[in-house]
Amino acid sequence: MATLAQGIDRPRVLGIETSCDETAAAVVRGWRNILANVVVTQEVHADWGGVVPEVASREHLRLILPAIRQAMETAEVKWGDLDGIAVTRGPGLIGALLVGVSIARALALGTDLPLVGVNHLEGHIFSLLLEDPEWRPPFLILIASGGHTELHMIEDLGEYRRLGGTVDDAAGEAFDKVGVMLGLPYPAGAAVDSIAEEAEVPGLTFPVASVDRPGHNFSFSGLKTAVMQQWRQIPEAGRVERRDEVAAAFRRAAVAALIGGVEAALDETGAPRVGVAGGVANNRLLRRELTDLAERRSIEVAFPSPRLCTDNAAMIGAAGAFHLAGGRRDGLDLDADPSLRLPSTAARPEDEEPPGGPA
Ligand code: KG4
Ligand code: ZN
Repeated sequence: MATLAQGIDRPRVLGIETSCDETAAAVVRGWRNILANVVVTQEVHADWGGVVPEVASREHLRLILPAIRQAMETAEVKWGDLDGIAVTRGPGLIGALLVGVSIARALALGTDLPLVGVNHLEGHIFSLLLEDPEWRPPFLILIASGGHTELHMIEDLGEYRRLGGTVDDAAGEAFDKVGVMLGLPYPAGAAVDSIAEEAEVPGLTFPVASVDRPGHNFSFSGLKTAVMQQWRQIPEAGRVERRDEVAAAFRRAAVAALIGGVEAALDETGAPRVGVAGGVANNRLLRRELTDLAERRSIEVAFPSPRLCTDNAAMIGAAGAFHLAGGRRDGLDLDADPSLRLPSTAARPEDEEPPGGPA
């Protein structure tokens, strides 16, 4: 396995990410340096209030080669300057993943470069290493996006322990659904955050779910339903006035759930550092509360910059660089796996995959 001291200069890797609705290509040097980071967010889904899988696949097909070309031009690298190609192989939408994996396989075949498939969640973990040269394991990470809400303890690079995750909706999904209900365009998380920021301290409160299962789990579907019920009770004429207040009360409950999970995980692990990744890591209240929490506990905290919080290929390239440096190579038969999990080195029983693969 590669060590922390490596990864500064080599390998040079082309990263490809097409797991959801961002078409992304990047060139990284090791897992600490970004040479180019091209992200095209597919705007077409806004009209549908959510990502339409078939449309996402078609858009990836249209956008991926220009994105790769642009990344290589910006990084000023030719194929011969690269040491490998890394691509997200899961989790994500199967059709979308297949576009990236097929392109990566074809490029590896045509260029003779080593190919490595990357777990998207592992990519988010590496997003913390790309900007802060001092950041290192052990650390706790909250990955909160439109598709995932998970807590992992990173004992060392490549050594992960899943502590828990959402049992229903992802945090970002709850932000999106509540936002669309409030009349904001999809994806609505950032807009909900902005209007909540402007609101007076709300009188309204929503319950913070506690999950009756072992581990550090989250639930957002009850909160989403509570917000919907409250919203329906407000007469239409009064909704404009109350919208920001409802958004603020929702945000407060959602962030309290995330912070509660982080606190419990810190109690259990004694982690000296905590980081967040994924689109929801951009949330301003979450950032403030996490900063306060870290200060209270005298631990370090990391927030990737917004372009690295949301899906991108630099993080995929970085995780791929780590695996390539450790000698891993995948075959040209590399396959996409829409329900890929991040394997724990010290798994709890309920996190183990059932025989025959993930459910
Ligand atoms: O990581 P990401 O780009 O893609 C997924 O893997 O889903 O995250 C996008 C998600 C969306 O649900 C979006 O609404 C949410 O992150 N998001 C936010 C904020 N900015 C983006 N949620 C809450 N507050 C924000 N400021
Ligand atoms: Zn993601």
